[in-house]
This record gives sequence, C-alpha cells and structure tokens, in this order.
Amino acid sequence: MCSIIGYKGNEHASTLLIEGLKKMEYRGYDSVGIATIKSGKLLIRKGVGKVAEVNKSLRLDELPGKLGIGHTRWATHGGIVDSNAHPHLACNSTIAVVHNGIIENYHELKDELYRSGHKFNSETDSEVIAHLLEEYFEITGDIRLSMIFTCKRLVGSFAFVAVFNSSTLCGARYDEPLIVGVGHDDYFLSSDILGFLNHTDRAIFLDNRDIVVINDSDISFFNFDGDRISRKITQVAWELGDADKGKYSHYTLKEIHEQHQTIVKSMDQDKKNLEKFCKIITDAKNVFITGSGTSYHSALIAKQIFSKSKIHVEPIMSSEFQYSADLLDENSVLLAISQSGETADVMHSVKSAKEMGAKVLSIVNIPTSSLARLSDSYLEVNCGPEIGVAATKSFTSQIALLYHVADLIGKKSNGIFASKDVLTKAIKQVLELDSHIESVANQIKGSKDIYILGRSLHFPICLEGALKIKELSYIHAEGMAAGELKHGPLALIDNNSIVIVIHPNDSTYGDTLSNIHTIKSRGAKIVGISNKKDEVYDYQITIPTINESLYPLIEIVPLQLLAYYLSICNNANPDYPRNLAKSVTVK
Ligand code: M6R
Repeated sequence: MCSIIGYKGNEHASTLLIEGLKKMEYRGYDSVGIATIKSGKLLIRKGVGKVAEVNKSLRLDELPGKLGIGHTRWATHGGIVDSNAHPHLACNSTIAVVHNGIIENYHELKDELYRSGHKFNSETDSEVIAHLLEEYFEITGDIRLSMIFTCKRLVGSFAFVAVFNSSTLCGARYDEPLIVGVGHDDYFLSSDILGFLNHTDRAIFLDNRDIVVINDSDISFFNFDGDRISRKITQVAWELGDADKGKYSHYTLKEIHEQHQTIVKSMDQDKKNLEKFCKIITDAKNVFITGSGTSYHSALIAKQIFSKSKIHVEPIMSSEFQYSADLLDENSVLLAISQSGETADVMHSVKSAKEMGAKVLSIVNIPTSSLARLSDSYLEVNCGPEIGVAATKSFTSQIALLYHVADLIGKKSNGIFASKDVLTKAIKQVLELDSHIESVANQIKGSKDIYILGRSLHFPICLEGALKIKELSYIHAEGMAAGELKHGPLALIDNNSIVIVIHPNDSTYGDTLSNIHTIKSRGAKIVGISNKKDEVYDYQITIPTINESLYPLIEIVPLQLLAYYLSICNNANPDYPRNLAKSVTVK
C-alpha cells in the first residue's frame, strides 16, 4: 500500500527519501515521486514504475535541498498515470503533499475549491489536501492553523505529510499510521519505521488526530482542536530493519524456510503478559475472533483448537464484522489477529467492538502497530520482519501462539508446548522436500484450476493453501471441505483437474479417502499430502507423523512451497504479487 517519507535536517534529502522508499517497497505500489525545497523553491519529480526505474529515468535523487517528502502510490482513486502519482502541489507551487488513505468527501471539497478558483492536476482524492492547505494559509498566514483547519475538513482516513516552501515539514494522522523519526539534529516522518530505521531508532508514534509541525527552530505537536500536546519518544528495535534475502532468491522462500525456528519463538512469551491476556479470555462471556486473509484463516483454526480445549470462539471475517457487531457487548472479547496490525478492515472491527463496550485483544507481529496500541492486551508472534507480500511464517507463528493460549486456558490440551522440538524437526523435514515440491510444481504448472480438499482442522489449511496459490502463481485455486464436494463442486471435476488432498492418517483419513476415489474415478490427478503411502495419489508429498491436532502447522508448509514454485514456473515475482499490498490500509 502507499508509503510516506519526509525529511528535514542537514543531509541531502532526496538521497534519504529514495532510500526510505526502497525500504518500504515490500508494501506494494505502482508509482513514485519526491518533492524537495531548495532556496525557497519547490522542486518535484514523479512517475509510474518502481523506485529504481523512475529514479534512473528522472534522477529523483538529484533533486537538491535538505527538506523533502516522498511517496509510493498504490492506486485507489484515479488511474496509474504520472499525474496521479504523489506529491501533489497547491496552485502556487509553494506547498506539496503526500497522502495515504482515502478522503471520502473529496468530491464535495473539490467542488468547493474549484469554485474558489483552484485548479486540479490529478484525478486523486489526495490533491484536495494541498489546495485546502493553500486556501487556509492564504486566509491565516499560519502553517499550524492551516493544518488544523484542513484536518477538520477531511472525512475518511489519512496520514499526510506536507512541505511548505518556508522550510516547514508537517504531518497529520487519522486512522492511518504516521511516525516521527528523531535523529541527532534531523527529523523523519514516515508511515513505517523501516522508512528511517537505518538512521535512527528513536520514534514518536503519532496518535489519531495528531498534527506535527517541524520548522527551523523546533518540533511541536497539536491535536485537531488546536491544543498543544506532548508525545513521548520510544526506542524501537534495530532488528526490525534487519531484513535481507540471505542465500535465498526471494524473501518469500527465505521466510518459508525460517518456520522451524519462528514457530518456537512465538511461544516464547512474557509470563505476566500472557497470563493477563488469557485472563481476559476466561473472564469473558463471549469470545469473537477476527482477521483478514491469512489471519482470518488463523481465526478459523483457532475456532477448532479452542473447541478441542472446550472453549467456544466465534470467527468473523474483519471485512464482514460491521454487519455482526451488534452481537458484542461489555461481556464480550474480540481477539483480532493481524501480522501488520494496520489492516483497515481489522482496525474498523476493533473500533466497532470497542463502541459496543467489548474488550480487545490482539495477536500481532509489529508491537508498535496501531492495533497493538489500541488493544487492552496484545501478544507478539515474534517472527521478525515478513517482507514477502504473501503471509507465510506469520501464519504458522500465529497458529502456534493460538495453540499455546488455548492450551493454557483450556480443559484439554492440544500439547503444543510439549511438542516444540518434535514440531521443529517435522517442519525441517518438510522443508527438506523443497526440490521434490519444485518438481511437483513443474508437473502441474499448466493447470487452470487447482482444488484443495481436507476435513476438520485441515479445511482452513485448504483455504490458506488456495489463497497462497492464487496470490503467488495467479492460478485459480479453491479450498474446500472434502465432504462438500458431492454437494456441487464435483460437477467441475474431469481429467483436466488437479486436486490436492490434505490427507494425514488421522480421524479424517477414511472419509477423505472415499472422496479421493470419487474424484479419481472422474479422471482428476491427485496430489496427496500425507504421512501414509498410497497408490491412489498421482504425486505424493510425504509429511512426518505427529500429534493429530498439530498437523496444520506442518501441512501448510508444502502448500506454501508449491505456491512459491508455481509462481516461479509462471514467471511471476513471488515477493510482489500484482495488484496486492503487504499492508492493506484501505477498506
Ligand atoms: O497484516 P494482516 O495480517 O492484517 O494482513 C491481512 C491480509 O491482508 C493478509 O493476510 C493477506 O491475505 C496476505 N497477503 C495473504 O498472503
């Protein structure tokens, strides 16, 4: 999704802006631009493409000045064209703005500004911010007031950063993250700490309705009502910036191969914090659980593992949550799962839950995220930076932690904590199948549709496996409960079909085997993920035998690898799938 960076200090701004934008590339974008101020003059360059490409053709990093802003845009309002790339300028070219989020009332604002004589150069919602700032600056002659008046007019979600040619850098946030990086004698403003972490580990996390104004003499904070406020500096962990591909060709492959270590880290929790978290669940009358995409699949698994521990939890997809929010009250708990902790659908669910008086718990990978900061208690999955857009190691870490929590509060244990070493070994064994899985991918790469079947705990893994195949390889894939096949989807099966079956030798084995025979007799090719050899499979991926309730943690790994190799076969870039963003901060 879009990324923001701003800099004011003694260094060459454009070099730092480009560096920051590159660090945030994993979030996904389609165009890039920067603006700097030099001797009171605003200079701007922007275009469609990746940071390196646009920099090569437009020499963004040669723009002079020690103050500037930069942006990578993920199109929402207006096509992917140069004119819609940020920064956007006010009419007199003395103010430039970069924005993340959506200004919902931009039509109305644009009409009003148009009537006052403003000219627009883009189709974006963001451009209205530059013109509003200009309008209010003309009236008040005061940057702080023009920021306050502008923020009050905006409806929707936003983090924006503006430069004024009078050498001032400003920012404001509402429902989109914005962080100040505090250097020795310089400041950064960014949507992600990775934007400045190479230069400083001292950060100020702005709250909703905060405005920051940085001029030559000081930095000051205000709320949208104009009251001066103070904000604390937090020391952030340097390791967050420590993300490179190592010996792997892609971040996604590296992150898949880290999972035998990361699942263990997720169970390494501060005892007191974990107890507090668990107590909120045990004290609640109703427990709801929410997430989006992969994190929603973790919620579906949580339902089953908590139910094995005799605890009822109700999963609700975050994008659908608002339609069920009435079910919550002050005796309820909402457990939100999110790798980034910034997903707009999740944040909206949490806010609705809070309005209903419910307590909010979260499981996140980024402890400084908006979600963690809004929660009554949160746990970190500790899996390190996940750069690949597809969630891989964060998924297994989320579910390992959910097993751990369920076991601590439940009447019956799934046995995850005792099985840590067994699981590490089992995941390692599956990772060693890497080249076999690559060869299976080569056999099935031409398929147009792939179905993934399984029952019980394996069903959410079918959904997750299908999501990985779709997003990485662009092949249509569908996860299904194996028993549902005969109720309709069987009509699709013929000798062109590829069906992957999650089929360990557990309580689901016999019923799923009958389904496999039904499919096989209609000509489909079967890929079996199982710990038991069987001739019914055309291709087998053999997984180790483990405690029945823990299979999801290992059986997702071959599906992630298969999706990765299918993307390579199809010449896609697995780290940056088309049209997708790592952190989905729009509804
Ligand atoms: O950061 P989150 O866990 O809240 O992200 C939720 C989804 O956007 C995310 O899991 C998405 O589905 C992944 N790209 C799937 O691989």
